[in-house]
Amino acid sequence: MPLKGQKIGLLGGGAMGEAIITGLLRAGLVAPPAISVSDINTKRLEYLSQKLGVRTAADNGAVVKDAGIVVIAVKPHAVTSLLQEIAPAVRPEQIFISIAAGIPTKLIESYLDGPVPVVRVMPNMPCLVGEGASAVSAGEFAGKESIQKAMAIFAAAGKAVEAPETLLDCVTGLSGSGPAYMYMVLEGLIDGAVRLGLPRGEATVLITQTMLGAAKMLLETGEHPGKLKDMVTTPGGTTAAGLFVLEEGALKALLIKAVDAAARRSSELSG
Ligand SMILES: NC(=O)c1ccc[n+]([C@@H]2O[C@H](COP(=O)([O-])OP(=O)(O)OC[C@H]3O[C@@H](n4cnc5c(N)ncnc54)[C@H](OP(=O)(O)O)[C@@H]3O)[C@@H](O)[C@H]2O)c1
Repeated sequence: MPLKGQKIGLLGGGAMGEAIITGLLRAGLVAPPAISVSDINTKRLEYLSQKLGVRTAADNGAVVKDAGIVVIAVKPHAVTSLLQEIAPAVRPEQIFISIAAGIPTKLIESYLDGPVPVVRVMPNMPCLVGEGASAVSAGEFAGKESIQKAMAIFAAAGKAVEAPETLLDCVTGLSGSGPAYMYMVLEGLIDGAVRLGLPRGEATVLITQTMLGAAKMLLETGEHPGKLKDMVTTPGGTTAAGLFVLEEGALKALLIKAVDAAARRSSELSG
């Protein structure tokens, strides 16, 4: 129980902040009174306090003073002014976890006086439904315990893996942008079925469940995706006919290029 007895503070109670809190509470890792949230939007604070029973404060510094683990969950453009504001309240035994896209741990460390553990996390949108995919990276002063705590927080909202910070642009291009790739694939397959006469609603149920099922089989069997693909491809059969069309269109090469383009863009934006 890496989070037992911990007080967790969230700076920013927007979409991601709410998803993180929901994951923690649903997994029973901490109780609502152990969580405090600050946000400049007082309506969000009222909402979070009523819906999730967490403590709220308008003052970021008050949340930092109260917490052992502090999650920075504001938009990237708000991070530097936030760090200036909270710096006087920071203690070296705290752990800072930032989910702000493109903000390096070095920048955060530079605002916090002394060797404070900073962990950077790249989550993705399905955290909002408890099926997120997050990569967790240690900053210079973050040890094993800080990583374990961050992994526990994000595993409660889906799955979490550890990755060096140098690979976070790649993670952004893979799982950060990944939901959009999946939606495009789903939309195309649904359109294909609608074209042949299947109603959109039924086509959506069938193919979204197919994507979930295929993903679950890959995770649970640990097999190479090529092997699972071969298992459903009868020689001379229907799947082989469909796969040939995808090969002709160079689908795999396109996907490789998409991850590359998104990772490059992530690197340019974090500059
Ligand atoms: N959403 C995703 O799918 C996703 C995926 C990966 C990473 N992230 C990262 O997660 C972070 C949060 O994203 P989000 O989607 O949760 O954004 P969001 O819904 O806009 O939430 C941010 C919240 O912080 C508040 N805020 C702004 N400045 C503040 C300050 N100085 N002090 C306290 N609160 C402040 C905002 O209030 P106002 O609305 O009034 O400004 C808002 O309620 C971002 O850095 C983003 O890069 C998000």
